[in-house]
Amino acid sequence: MSEAIVLDDRPRRVGQPPSAPRIIAIANQKGGVGKTTTAINLATALASVGRKVLIIDLDPQGNASTGIGLQRSQRGTGAYALLFGETTVAEAAQKTSIPRLTIIPSTLDLSGAEIELVGAERREFRLRESLRNGAADGYHYVLIDCPPALGLLTLNALVAADAVMVPLQCEFYALEGLSYLTRTIERVKRSLNPALDVQGVVLTMFDRRNNLSDLVAKDVRDHFGKKVYDTVIPRNVRVSEAPSHGKPVLLYDLQCAGSRAYIHLAGEVLRQEKSHEKRMTA
Ligand SMILES: Nc1ncnc2c1ncn2[C@@H]1O[C@H](COP(=O)(O)OP(=O)(O)O)[C@@H](O)[C@H]1O
Ligand SMILES: [Mg+2]
Repeated sequence: MSEAIVLDDRPRRVGQPPSAPRIIAIANQKGGVGKTTTAINLATALASVGRKVLIIDLDPQGNASTGIGLQRSQRGTGAYALLFGETTVAEAAQKTSIPRLTIIPSTLDLSGAEIELVGAERREFRLRESLRNGAADGYHYVLIDCPPALGLLTLNALVAADAVMVPLQCEFYALEGLSYLTRTIERVKRSLNPALDVQGVVLTMFDRRNNLSDLVAKDVRDHFGKKVYDTVIPRNVRVSEAPSHGKPVLLYDLQCAGSRAYIHLAGEVLRQEKSHEKRMTA
């Protein structure tokens, strides 16, 4: 990454925030593949180089909210109220200990949302309608941490997003069930959100002592080609310790291999944005 990462709050020359943010849904219907870890740490790395970032914790388990250090009592109205039009982005966004990083947390009522959405009007568009039309202007990035299912919550994220990022754990079953996710993305593109892009696939929990990790990584690259980020997130104990301290690993141990990997990943995401802007203005 060309910009040095410094976790402080000195003003940076990054220009004005764009009028509309890049909205990225972090999705995979499997649990434990690194969605939340990627949401928190990519967001922190992007915020550290001057981007204004909003995380939306759309998982009723609320791991992103806990992992960023937000107690239940500090969560305010939360993602449920946003989905049901009872609040605005500005009202629901809570400050975190990281400069430029805010979060719309998961609250207890979100666990009922999956069922309540079934009967709701324009049920797949609820999040999109709360986020679009200027509601999230001023942010560079909105990262949506999805639950481990392809239900209406994840569907709302995919419909609201400009792109989807898919974390894949480097294990034997990594690709299993992925065709279901790919088909869901295609279906959303065909009917609900034609502009949905695949931001990228990120390999997580790579274990270099394990040959299987290499094999899986190769398999995934054969399958997804250029969509797979060069950066691979290693399995790293510091990454798994950080959430219990209510901190992104970048704050918990900036020098560890996991932090360095997420900083590299953020660099790749920023470079994608530059090529995206070039295409838009070409
Ligand atoms: N690179 C990593 N190294 C070690 N542990 C990790 C790593 N990434 C995630 N974990 C741990 O694995 C578990 C699942 O990760 P998480 O990000 O919560 O997955 P998901 O959101 O997809 O369910 C968590 O306990 C997390 O701390
Ligand atoms: Mg999660």
